[in-house]
Parts: sequence; C-alpha cells; structure tokens
Amino acid sequence: MRKKKVRLEKLTVEDYAAGGKSLGRVEGKVVFIEGAVPGDVVDVQLGKNKKDWAEGRVERFHSYSKDRVDPFCEHFGTCGGCKWQMLPYEKQLEYKQQEVEQQLRRIGKVEIPAVLPIIGCKDTRYYRNKLEFTASNRRYLSAAEIKSGAEILPENALGFHVPRLFDKVIDIQNCHLMAEPTNLIKNTIRAYAAANQLEYYDIREHRGFLRTLLIRVLTTGEVMVNLVFGREDKKARIALLDHLLARVPGITTLLYTINAKFNDSLHDQEPIVYFGKGYAVEQLEDFQFKISPKSFFQTNTRQGERLYQITRDFAELTGKETVYDLYCGTGSIGIFVSRKAAKVIGVEVIEDAIADAKENAALNNIKHAAFFAGDVIDICDNSFFSTHGRPDVIITDPPRAGMHEKLVQKILEIGAPTVVYVSCNPSTQARDLGLLDAGYMVTKVQPVDMFPHTHHIENVVQLKKRNYV
Ligand SMILES: C[S@@+](CC[C@H](N)C(=O)[O-])C[C@H]1O[C@@H](n2cnc3c(N)ncnc32)[C@H](O)[C@@H]1O
Repeated sequence: MRKKKVRLEKLTVEDYAAGGKSLGRVEGKVVFIEGAVPGDVVDVQLGKNKKDWAEGRVERFHSYSKDRVDPFCEHFGTCGGCKWQMLPYEKQLEYKQQEVEQQLRRIGKVEIPAVLPIIGCKDTRYYRNKLEFTASNRRYLSAAEIKSGAEILPENALGFHVPRLFDKVIDIQNCHLMAEPTNLIKNTIRAYAAANQLEYYDIREHRGFLRTLLIRVLTTGEVMVNLVFGREDKKARIALLDHLLARVPGITTLLYTINAKFNDSLHDQEPIVYFGKGYAVEQLEDFQFKISPKSFFQTNTRQGERLYQITRDFAELTGKETVYDLYCGTGSIGIFVSRKAAKVIGVEVIEDAIADAKENAALNNIKHAAFFAGDVIDICDNSFFSTHGRPDVIITDPPRAGMHEKLVQKILEIGAPTVVYVSCNPSTQARDLGLLDAGYMVTKVQPVDMFPHTHHIENVVQLKKRNYV
C-alpha cells in the first residue's frame, strides 16, 4: 500500500543545514527543507518521514525571509547552477562558516581551535575558468510554457542539465559563471545550428551530431574550446568550426572530439586539435600551468591561488622540508609550495595528470619535485617512504569521499610532524580528522569559498603531531 504523503503547513525555517538545505522543527522533529532559507514561512511536502527527522520540498511560500535578495539570473529556479542567488553573499559566507564548524565538531568530534573567518571571493560572478554545456533535442519546458498549450519551438537546447532530470536541458542564453566570450561562443553555435538545421543530440536514443561544448576562459587571456560531436560529419563539422573561429576572435585553441559512446565522459576520448596549440596556460602567482583539454585544474583561478597560499602558509616551510603532495592532480599544490621545500613528492591515480605534473614542473624549472602515478594506498607504503624520504609535511587533497582509511592509518604510522588537509567536503574531512585524532591535533582551520551562490565549501586544516606540539 502506498504511504500517504504528509504536508506540513506554515513551517518557519529556522536555520541552515548541510548540503544547501535548511531546517525547521515540528514537535521536536527536525525537518530538512529544500528550496527555502532561514526566515521563510512555508508549506512543505515531505518525501522522507522518519522518527526523529523528515525531509521535504517547499510547496508554497507564505512569507519570504527578510534576508532574501532578487536573484540576478533569468534561469534561477530551474538551473541547478547558482542555487543561493537569493541570499546576499555575506549570508552565504556566514552559513558556510557555520557548516564547517558544525561538521568538524559533530562528525569529527575532535577539539578544534576557533575557525578562522572564511575567505570570500572578490568576484562573485564570472569566477569560473571552465564550463561544460550540453546540446540536447529535449529542451526543458517551464510550467508556464506547458500550460500555455501553444506549439513550442525550438525543442533544442544548449545549456545545463536540469537537476534530477537526466534527459532535460535548459536552454541557457546568458550564464554568469564565466567571463566572455563564453556566452558568445555558445550563442554563436546555437544560432549557426538553427540556421543550418544541425541535429542536436538525443540523450535517450543516443544519436545526434552536436553533443557537448567545453570552454575554458583563463586569466592569462587564453580561451580553449572543445566541441564534442556524437558522430562525424566532416563537412558540417568543418563549416561550424570555421564559422566559430570567424565570429569569435578570442579563441586561442579549438579542439573537437567525436564521442560516439553512451556517456559524455571524455577521459577515454581523444580531442583533436583544429586550431592553436591544443592546450591552454593558466598562471598562479608567477607559476605557469599547462592545462590540456582533459586536465583537472582548480575551477576558480583567483581563489585557487588563495587556497594554495593558505596551504603553503599552513605547511610552515623553511626550505629544508620533504613535502608529500597526496592526491596531487596535475601537481599544482606541490609546484606552488616547491620553492620553500627541499623536495616534493606527488602521488595521483590518473596517469595523464602525472604526465601534466611532470611537464608543469619542467615548465616552472622545478627540478626537486617527482610525481608518481597510482592509487595512494598502493603507492604510499613503507618502502616508498624509505626510498623518497621521511615526510616533514604531508599535504593531502582527496576527492569528496575523503581519504581511504588505510591511508589515514599510514599517515598516523609515518608520523610527519605537520599535515595539511585540503578538502572540498568538510563532512568527510571531519570523519578523517576523527581518525587522525589518535596522533594529531587540529591547530588551524581555514574555510575558503571557491563557489559563490552554491553550497560548496573548501576547507584547509593544519594538523600537528601530538608529541611535536
Ligand atoms: C580534489 S582533487 C585535487 C587535485 C589537486 N590537488 C589540485 O589542487 O588540483 C583530488 C585528486 O585525487 C585523485 N584521486 C582520487 N582517488 C585517488 C586515489 N585513490 N589515489 C590517488 N589519487 C586519487 C583524483 O584523480 C584528483 O586528481
């Protein structure tokens, strides 16, 4: 039998909760709410309803929080990109700061010093250096469009996926996440495709020509574009690429990829250079980084620089230290701290990233850094540490899932005097700090906001080995 849906009426939203949600309380039960901010009074349709907590979505607003501001983007509400636009930036920062504190105390259950004030972005729009747009013949239609009953054309969309609807794409006209020529490139392709009846990709049927569009706009002025097609049509492809180059003079590198497989991931695909050198270069302080079409690089350049500066400060280097950069990606943290270290050893699972790391070290004339490809838990064994030297500082920057428990145990066993833990997910960081507590104490906590108008937080923690403190 289907459970009856529960609807809560006139609930006052009291506070922010993890993951961009907010919360209210009904008879002692905590209700997590999507789509509201503290101060709103709302009706909530519950999805999950457990003994101590429930979770639901806003059905109706009775009144709005006085903290709300008008969202700046025409796509707000459907696009999943900048969900916190209705909050002033200072409020966003306040909630992020609070979340770091709560996660570390509640999940980590470790003693922490006062959390340093979160470092906000100077630019809260156009802060990204990479965006990926999807071309789809299943455009997302708003409720008003559907209600109107009118025939709706076009069905094609070049934009972002709608949250929770894998096959629906919002046609994005003007995105505020990355500087121009981002919108110019996207809108030029859209207009050309319409005029020449180019086929958009069908995500359900897995067929079609225009598939995805990846753009990088870097602070060095370089612009790299990779246009992905679902099948080859040489004549149509060349005509489109030439048109794009003619209309958008700022493009420094243009690549294309023919991706005929079922998913959009490009890790196993080969982008082909159509124009330019085939990669782009970004700069942090006076370090240069080569970014290949498939490389990972911090998506907010200016704030990435701040993040690395904090990481370097927390490492407290004097020039004599052996530094391990675990989960090193393209070696950017290791390279950034290298001038203050005697030796840098980087470890990363993606082989292409390690190839980039080696190239980046050479590009910056750094000779005392070495990079190794493989899983951290396979590579970082006793013989690896005895071959490359006992670490004075370990910098670790794992993915959202946090560190593998085996690596945490190895860090405890190796006992570097200082560990700097950079995290994009304070809840898994908190869990790992709880485990590291056996040998380390948390001495500094610095949240950094890399992604304004989203709930994502980056957090840097300094740990000191207990008998060194
Ligand atoms: C958050 S990124 C950090 C990248 C880099 N530190 C930077 O700032 O650009 C995490 C990195 O960990 C790598 N990774 C994930 N699991 C891994 C594992 N088990 N062993 C080694 N590297 C791993 C990912 O490929 C990714 O490059």
